Amino acid sequence: MNKEWIELYREEIKKFGEQTKEFHDQKLTRKEYKGISGGMGSYAQRDANEHMVRLRMNGGELTRDKLKFLVETIDRYHINRLKLSTCQTIQLHDLKYDQVEPIIEEAISAKIYTKAGGGDNPRNVMCSPLAGLQKGEPFDVLPYATAVADYTLSICRDFKMPRKLKIAFSNGVDDSVHATFRDMGFIANPDGTFKLYIAGGLGANHSKGVLVKEDVPAKDVLYYVRAMIDLFCEYGNYENRAKARTRYLQESMGQDKLKEEFLKKAGELVEKGGHDLVVESKPIDKRGTKEIEGKRILPQKQEGLYMVEYHPIGGDLPIDMPRKMLECLEKMPDVECRIGADETMYFVNCTAKEAQELLDLTADAASTPFEHSVACIGAAVCQQGLRNSQQTLRACIDEVKKFPEIADCLPKVRISGCASSCSAHQIGSIGFQGFVKVVDKVPQPAFRVFVGGSDEINNVQFGNFVGVVLEKDMPEMFVKIGQACKESKKTWDEFIKEDQDKVVEIVKSFE
Ligand code: HEM
Ligand code: SF4
Repeated sequence: MNKEWIELYREEIKKFGEQTKEFHDQKLTRKEYKGISGGMGSYAQRDANEHMVRLRMNGGELTRDKLKFLVETIDRYHINRLKLSTCQTIQLHDLKYDQVEPIIEEAISAKIYTKAGGGDNPRNVMCSPLAGLQKGEPFDVLPYATAVADYTLSICRDFKMPRKLKIAFSNGVDDSVHATFRDMGFIANPDGTFKLYIAGGLGANHSKGVLVKEDVPAKDVLYYVRAMIDLFCEYGNYENRAKARTRYLQESMGQDKLKEEFLKKAGELVEKGGHDLVVESKPIDKRGTKEIEGKRILPQKQEGLYMVEYHPIGGDLPIDMPRKMLECLEKMPDVECRIGADETMYFVNCTAKEAQELLDLTADAASTPFEHSVACIGAAVCQQGLRNSQQTLRACIDEVKKFPEIADCLPKVRISGCASSCSAHQIGSIGFQGFVKVVDKVPQPAFRVFVGGSDEINNVQFGNFVGVVLEKDMPEMFVKIGQACKESKKTWDEFIKEDQDKVVEIVKSFE
């Protein structure tokens, strides 16, 4: 970001520090403060004395400098809880009110700008976490995601959108960032252009995006982004926040008009010019000579280099891990970290020997698909939440561990603490949404259950709602589902496709 932008940002941070103090002194209400703090990438937690700061990582890129900043910040402020978020950021939790401003200010030195990390802004730009490294991808989309992140940050003070805008780039082989159902999703084509989907999203009334163009020229990406912002500002709903996300434009404008208006705006901007994009990938000259294989190892397209996958259970990154990672990485040239959209982290550009060292360092990682389940931070921390998703996930994993024979029979599930869908439960093979069930006139902690969702790149499906189960019954329910899959002698993917009714039957038996 340029000097003027940063100077203004520093002033905003100072003012925000004063507002955080006013909130602490109860001179601002929770609602008033939420409206302000989101725009700076921070929210008060359920306990109003505790705060969260969301460290934006463009495209999930946790560079060496950013990791160093994280380590120093953890030490300096005695931070005790981190969360890998499904928007490819790292969240610092349980902060005191007077830690928020200095952390945001100090993050500038590591090129972390928390501004627009929340609120009605263009958010952290998402990107396939293995972009530039993954075999089979047509081209590296990360530099495009980075350029869009810089562009949207540079202009975010110039407009007021009705709600947030999430943009994602997929490298065409991995759509874990869900480009087909974001406010804007670019998917790399083999000919160097992008397929573009707009006005999709999760949450209430979730919907897939509308495919508006098959072949956006890569140099024109910024015009299309600007066209989306302009369209949203012109046609979005400023009256009702619950119906303000871009996906509601599909209904209010109709898909044809939406597409027509959007392409008209984009065409005019392309014509006007001035923002052609020319990007370059970071060169990776390193090569390895030895080979390594393993469940958590992925070979890169660069010869002899590997990625090591690390999924801390529930995305709950142990507080001493960033320091251990940094110490390890300091001996490993070019090895960096990427954060995925499902609470998984990757160490990239490793030789076989380095990969082995990182496997040993992260031995606490999830090893089964079920342990890779995604759970939002949940109601113990989040003001919005109904259920403690993290606690529920742990209870289920602990129970399933008692039955080692079904360890690999259960899928990666997704648990959201409320309808906001922060874990994207709609596309989970089994998904859960925090809920309350009244039993004998007594409200009980429960989850709504969705079955059959998928985020496979060419087979996106939203799961069907099948029933409501009590939170306390979930561990036993998973054991029953795992045993049924085991008895069928099928893989989970075959089982859920061919015997979905059996899964539904088990869920219903717990209703
Ligand atoms: C202070 C805590 C948080 C608050 C108040 C909050 C608020 C919300 C709200 C209101 C929505 C619904 C937006 C809509 O109408 O679509 C939402 C959606 C979402 N949030 Fe959060 N959230 C919080 C934490 C998180 C965390 C920790 C994550 C990631 C782990 C996250 C990721 C998401 C995602 C992926 C969606 C789905 C929206 C979409 O892409 O359409 N949020 N959040
Ligand atoms: S799904 Fe609900 S409980 Fe979970 S982090 Fe999002 S808003 Fe909070």
